[in-house]
Amino acid sequence: MSIQRILIYPEDCLKKVAQPIQDFGTDDLKTLVQDLLDSMYDAPGVGLAAPQIGVSLRVAVTDVNWRSEGAEKQHQVWINPEFLWKSEKTEITEEGCLSLPDMYADIERPSALRLRWFDVVGNVFEEDFEGFQAVALQHEFDHLDGKVFIDYVSALKRRMMVKKLKKKYFS
Ligand code: NI
Repeated sequence: MSIQRILIYPEDCLKKVAQPIQDFGTDDLKTLVQDLLDSMYDAPGVGLAAPQIGVSLRVAVTDVNWRSEGAEKQHQVWINPEFLWKSEKTEITEEGCLSLPDMYADIERPSALRLRWFDVVGNVFEEDFEGFQAVALQHEFDHLDGKVFIDYVSALKRRMMVKKLKKKYFS
């Protein structure tokens, strides 16, 4: 079990485009996935992407239901995820992020999507998602492109949020 420090925005790794995994099934990749899961459950959060623990690779984990009353842990691992389709229909969800503690904003995103991704040993999957799962996946995979949810809010609101984070965590 290895809980990693979760980076706080605007630390550098959170703003970089992450690199795809080339070699599957390696001990390094398995360790990274376990570190992500340990860190996500410890935080506690429902999703965590590798750049959030300072690793600029296209890997993320989610467990969107485990914090609900009576739910069991049931994590999913996403490697090199790629959106094949996103719906025109959108929905607005209040989002937060472990890398932006205590910050929340209503974000509009496509409400359904089709995804292709790999697992740790390199099996490829394709599946449709909708609702909260679809929103959570888009949020997590934004991290792989160096984006965070406040990139979708007004410049003024974003500046205020970054200022608060800098004051609290970097001064
Ligand atoms: Ni996040």
